[in-house]
Amino acid sequence: MYVLQNYVVLTLWSQCAFAAHSFAKRNDTKSFATNLLHESLDWLDRFYDNERGYLFSLDSEALTHVTRESVWYAAGLLARNEVDDVEQAVRIVSNVIGAQFKNESEQWFGDYQIYPEEPSVGTEQYLPRIYSSWDPNWRGFIGTTFILILEEFSHLIPQDIQEYMLESLYNTTIGDSYRVGGVDHDNLYPAYSNPSIMRALVSGWVGRRINDSNMTTAGEADAKAIIDLFTRDNTLSEFNSGTYAGVSLFALTLWAKYMPEDSLMGQHGGEMIRQTWTSLGQLYNANLKNVAGPWDRSYGYDMNKYLSILALQIWTLVGKENAPVNKKPYAMGHKNDFSISPLIAILAPFHNTLVPEETLSSLLGFPGTHTVKTSAFSPPYDTYPRNITAWISPNLTIGAESFAENVIGGPSKNPSSFNPAVVQWARRDGSVGWLSLYAQVKELDVKVGEWTLELNYPKGNVSSGFSFLVGTNGWNERRDVSKWEHVEGVKVNVTGNVDTNYTVTFNGLRSGARETINDFEFWNFTYTMPPSSQEIPRVQLDFELA
Ligand SMILES: *[C@@H]1O[C@H](CO)[C@@H](O)[C@H](O)[C@H]1NC(C)=O
Ligand SMILES: *[C@@H]1O[C@H](CO)[C@@H](O)[C@H](O)[C@H]1NC(C)=O
Ligand SMILES: *[C@@H]1O[C@H](CO)[C@@H](O)[C@H](O)[C@H]1NC(C)=O
Ligand SMILES: *[C@@H]1O[C@H](CO)[C@@H](O)[C@H](O)[C@H]1NC(C)=O
Ligand SMILES: *[C@@H]1O[C@H](CO)[C@@H](O)[C@H](O)[C@H]1NC(C)=O
Ligand SMILES: *[C@@H]1O[C@H](CO)[C@@H](O)[C@H](O)[C@H]1NC(C)=O
Ligand SMILES: *[C@@H]1O[C@H](CO)[C@@H](O)[C@H](O)[C@H]1NC(C)=O
Ligand SMILES: *[C@@H]1O[C@H](CO)[C@@H](O)[C@H](O)[C@H]1NC(C)=O
Ligand SMILES: *[C@@H]1O[C@H](CO)[C@@H](O)[C@H](O)[C@H]1NC(C)=O
Ligand SMILES: *[C@@H]1O[C@H](CO)[C@@H](O)[C@H](O)[C@H]1NC(C)=O
Ligand SMILES: *[C@@H]1O[C@H](CO)[C@@H](O)[C@H](O)[C@H]1NC(C)=O
Repeated sequence: MYVLQNYVVLTLWSQCAFAAHSFAKRNDTKSFATNLLHESLDWLDRFYDNERGYLFSLDSEALTHVTRESVWYAAGLLARNEVDDVEQAVRIVSNVIGAQFKNESEQWFGDYQIYPEEPSVGTEQYLPRIYSSWDPNWRGFIGTTFILILEEFSHLIPQDIQEYMLESLYNTTIGDSYRVGGVDHDNLYPAYSNPSIMRALVSGWVGRRINDSNMTTAGEADAKAIIDLFTRDNTLSEFNSGTYAGVSLFALTLWAKYMPEDSLMGQHGGEMIRQTWTSLGQLYNANLKNVAGPWDRSYGYDMNKYLSILALQIWTLVGKENAPVNKKPYAMGHKNDFSISPLIAILAPFHNTLVPEETLSSLLGFPGTHTVKTSAFSPPYDTYPRNITAWISPNLTIGAESFAENVIGGPSKNPSSFNPAVVQWARRDGSVGWLSLYAQVKELDVKVGEWTLELNYPKGNVSSGFSFLVGTNGWNERRDVSKWEHVEGVKVNVTGNVDTNYTVTFNGLRSGARETINDFEFWNFTYTMPPSSQEIPRVQLDFELA
């Protein structure tokens, strides 16, 4: 019945010509999602500590355990429901709630531990450090998972545990309401898309469930701020992030699936998912299996080599083989995010009906050279919306954004994840070459054209530099790089008012001038200004495939 409904919805938006194709594809969704669920659970099973009722740390941290991933695993156990899966899931949930922070006067009230062995947050020996000794986003990650569990699997959960979960959700909602961007070192503005979408959902859902109209109203108010930002240009503020677009899509799926029509979340969730996939689909290059830049927050430079949550969603849409996921996902960079797979798999049958037909086909085949222009806005960090341009050709993509911000490294103030200008290209062996401008300034102007990228620092001066991080060559190619001619798969000419002499250093796993970023090794091509320059720093890169 449920599946049939999806088909009806689908035929409404697809043109007749695509109908047969889409029926076949949507049918696959179920087996792709089942396959993701089982593959991720097989991996997580190995980390389960049956003695404690928690997962061990996925990073071999001397047999300590982890909270958030344990709860994701519990949702997966309920979905699998074999042998004693349900019993273990209930144990995990009870353990996590037992350790939830219970003092209403503390900023971390209603939050969950990062790991069960941790000392008490707020003691002299374990000072309260946001995003360090405690993480405010754990309320959202765990709260949304509890809601998913109550919505999908309440028939498996004893009544007293369901009530315990509601009490936990009530506290987490109160605690989350303490969060105000700019106060107490917190940064939860509506533009911080992934946790703000989760907070709105938890507050709105809990408010309705327990008849607390303040919570319902707070959820709607949060949702309105998020929706207003989104509808400006139909983009998430936390734009185009392999990891966090995935989290935002997960949380928007809860809006669309669990919130009623009298909620702004129920009204807008589905359309926001469609729009988000539309821009991701336009930026995706199926030949490279990568979403083109710019990336506001990325934990890697090639989606085939680090595990992104978006890639897990792509897995449920087109199958693992066609997704940017290695045969052994747990060997990829940022592999711990594989542990969110159960949630992605459980929601896929609903979520995937919201992915537009055109996006689905762009995940499987490159539609032809095109340019994407859009914008995203993250107040209070952006003075103006960031202007995004990407040129996407079959074997080379260039994507960059102009911005004027009051911080360096994007709203998360992290130059390791903010990638405002990115180029990727196909190499002979099928692997992907890449280049990314290292974020060092508050303002950048970009011009993206066919085969060309121009960058200006409007507030720069003679001491400014442009550092391009360039991925290492493929397995059979040269290991040593000291000039552009050594970079495999592409020819690059550099012009501008920079000193044309440049330095090349190595950021390596074991050695080199500096350290890797997000586990990626790279060559650092740096250009500086001639000593006497009075001009606005400008550099232009022209590309050809080699
Ligand atoms: C899709 O699934 C339905 C229900 O299982 C089945 O009747 C139909 O033949 C399938 N269609 C295709 C194209 O595989
Ligand atoms: C709760 O936290 C407040 C503020 O840190 C503290 O003064 C109080 O003693 C705590 N209460 C308990 C029961 O620990
Ligand atoms: C919820 O918070 C109250 C204090 O407001 C506390 O007494 C109670 O134990 C908490 N419940 C859970 C499940 O942590
Ligand atoms: C909430 O209100 C509805 C309608 O008035 C009522 O049916 C329901 O029992 C109430 N739920 C709770 C938890 O109070
Ligand atoms: C809702 O907020 C109002 C105003 O702040 C307050 O008086 C009331 O007690 C709150 N209700 C609940 C159920 O917390
Ligand atoms: C892109 O690369 C593929 C594989 O090397 C090649 O077959 C194809 O001709 C290239 N396309 C263009 C437009 O360069
Ligand atoms: C983006 O483009 C708009 C419209 O052209 C312009 O007003 C705005 O200043 C631009 N933003 C940046 C950061 O350059
Ligand atoms: C260049 O700009 C930097 C950063 O704004 C500033 O610290 C430095 O003093 C400037 N240098 C010159 C020579 O103006
Ligand atoms: C570039 O480096 C070479 C060799 O070190 C030097 O002779 C030349 O003057 C430099 N050019 C500039 C523009 O600094
Ligand atoms: C790149 O190299 C330049 C010049 O050596 C250096 O100043 C900069 O810190 C390096 N950047 C990174 C990310 O390693
Ligand atoms: C680089 O410059 C050379 C010499 O002007 C020219 O022949 C070549 O086509 C240029 N390559 C690119 C990628 O612009």
